[in-house]
Amino acid sequence: MAIGHKTKIVDLLKSKDFGSTVDVKGWVRTSRGNKYVSFIHLNDGSTINNIQIVADVEKFGEDLLKQITTGACIHVVGKLVESQGQGQTCEVQADTIEIYGTADPLTYPLQKKGHSLEFLREIAYLRPRTNTFGAVFRIRHHMAYAIHKYFNDHGFYYFHTPIITTSDTEGAGSMFQVSTLDMEKLPHTETGAVDYSQDFFGQATNLTVSGQLEGELGAMALGAIYTFGPTFRAENSNTPRHLAEFWMIEPEVAFNDNDDNQDLAEDFLKYLIQYALDNCMDDIQFLNDMFDKELIDRLKFVVANSFKRLAYTEAVEILESSGHKFEFPVFWGADLQSEHERYLVEKHFKCPVILTDYPKEIKSFYMKQNEDGKTVRAMDVLFPKIGEIIGGSERETDYDKLMTRVNELGMHTDPIWWYLETRKFGTAPHAGFGLGFERLILFVTGMANIRDVIPFPRTPNNAEF
Ligand code: 4AD
Ligand code: MG
Repeated sequence: MAIGHKTKIVDLLKSKDFGSTVDVKGWVRTSRGNKYVSFIHLNDGSTINNIQIVADVEKFGEDLLKQITTGACIHVVGKLVESQGQGQTCEVQADTIEIYGTADPLTYPLQKKGHSLEFLREIAYLRPRTNTFGAVFRIRHHMAYAIHKYFNDHGFYYFHTPIITTSDTEGAGSMFQVSTLDMEKLPHTETGAVDYSQDFFGQATNLTVSGQLEGELGAMALGAIYTFGPTFRAENSNTPRHLAEFWMIEPEVAFNDNDDNQDLAEDFLKYLIQYALDNCMDDIQFLNDMFDKELIDRLKFVVANSFKRLAYTEAVEILESSGHKFEFPVFWGADLQSEHERYLVEKHFKCPVILTDYPKEIKSFYMKQNEDGKTVRAMDVLFPKIGEIIGGSERETDYDKLMTRVNELGMHTDPIWWYLETRKFGTAPHAGFGLGFERLILFVTGMANIRDVIPFPRTPNNAEF
């Protein structure tokens, strides 16, 4: 990129074009100096690193320089010079300074460094301006790009599934309703139920919990597809790993079985982590130094080692005979809690784990049933510090078996009749999974709370900004 006009600081810091005129715009991180000269550290979001602006007090006058405080936004034109100071190769000797916006030191909330992550959550509208959140959100961007790149390079099509749906894919019943009915004056049918035929869509609708069911329709036509969009769950789980609005990536592949599904999940995750190591090192290094000294080692370890694959039944045996005291009891048939998953990953195998063949009672209706009549061809990928990062399965393609399961679970067939129909017309073996985007970002950034890896988190009692 040509230097001389609206240069990004990331490019400027790599430049050796000393003596040239440069034009930088950004937000002041710190400003200090003496009677003669001001040193302004400027950041424009293109990198975690700041550029130093050197401004002569005599030239600009104290009145102007006094307004250049932390948080202010300025435009500087000046000369790029080799830096005398430590820790930077170049700096800008200012010729002109224009102030776009001041930030009153008495009221600007990010005046000081070192605010707690909890405090920053309360000012989520400003926290992207901190080093930490700049790093996290740049990494988040690169991961989104890498996801599209991976699938595009592997012949998958990006398939857009609806946000507003009538079905509950996961059968968990934790959905946000979508309605234009007047909540104060709901219309009722003769039996006293809410009359959704008068609602916008003529039936009850909700925000999607997963794009999978529609994604399967795509796979039955395009072969290999993926979705990547927001999903919504009204589960009241106030944990460091749950959001009410999160982003999910759901590949679905015709003719893949449960083994292919595991191969895809492992290859995909390793690709994404390697991509982060190759493209986000400045930000990862910062997060490693600030929050989690083992982050880089952990990322490299996951890329370099095979994931351990075993059946749920074996995992339960390991947990039962571990002698470890768990908060939640573990027995065959129990839904594994994060503490169990993390014990297997962090204490027992000391590597990522893929668990397969779960009891059908704790998994969704669409999973392919095994011959034993008790388990389904599910797979969960479990990661250090995270627990479940991916959940998926081979799908039941046999119409009768699928219907039997739907009936056993007492599910309404009205909202998913079209899904069931696919098993009648050119059905095929297929498999897919869902990767929680924020759980991936948690892993790659080493952050501990999922509220800190999405710009504007949605959790119980929190939707302000
Ligand atoms: O295991 P889940 O519920 O699987 C599905 O939704 C399937 N339809 C996926 C598929 O087979 N196509 O969710 C998938 C992943 C989880 O492993 C987890 O990483 C993430 O989505 N996830 C959440 N992330 C943040 N907040 C929540 N409330 C989440 N619920 C699930
Ligand atoms: Mg799951």
